[in-house]
Amino acid sequence: MINVKAQAYVFDAYGTLFDVHAAIARHRAEAGADAERFSEIWRIKQLEYTWTLTLAGAYVDFWTLTERALDHAFARIPSVSPALRPKLLEAYLELDAFPDASETLGALKSRGLRLAILSNGSPRMLAAAVDASGLAASLDAVLSVDAVRAYKPRPEVYALVTDRFGIPAQEVAFVSSNRWDVMGAASFGFRAVWANRGGMPDEYPAARPTRVIATLAELPALGL
Ligand code: LAC
Repeated sequence: MINVKAQAYVFDAYGTLFDVHAAIARHRAEAGADAERFSEIWRIKQLEYTWTLTLAGAYVDFWTLTERALDHAFARIPSVSPALRPKLLEAYLELDAFPDASETLGALKSRGLRLAILSNGSPRMLAAAVDASGLAASLDAVLSVDAVRAYKPRPEVYALVTDRFGIPAQEVAFVSSNRWDVMGAASFGFRAVWANRGGMPDEYPAARPTRVIATLAELPALGL
């Protein structure tokens, strides 16, 4: 078999390019001592809703799930004032990109590679985040699960990439900080790269990443 290099690099959005904990960080003083736990509950509930709804054959867009998860976090952590709700939602729409995102995407783009985002985010959320981060110039496509009304790790979500670029899965490098997303991408046939930002232990032994990196800055040198 001829070993063709990856023609497209596709990135998960939340947790990989955009820091989901940046919203609470902007209001850290007001949120108080339970801010980190509050943000963790917000994130894990947001993801849990995507999985449970998809398993049940239902779909509700990611913005609505983000709001519902936030309301759950307020109910669980009463020390965080619900007065922060509109501020946190506004911040979530314009999350900070991780410091390594812009330069890495620029370096890959300058090699003529095609770049995209593939995310659970609704089209409106993704457009706002991409605009605020200044990453738009490097991206050829911003793909949302909304097109198939099902969440990662369903295979039809990853197929949005091969359909858009008209290339086989093996020619796609897919990068995510979420190990469960890497599992879905590897199972689909992508060259899945785990950006293990948090130094987490490995999971999903049947669907291993092609490579593991600690920061996105390592990506251009991998030669995928
Ligand atoms: C996304 C989720 C995994 O952006 O955060 O698809």
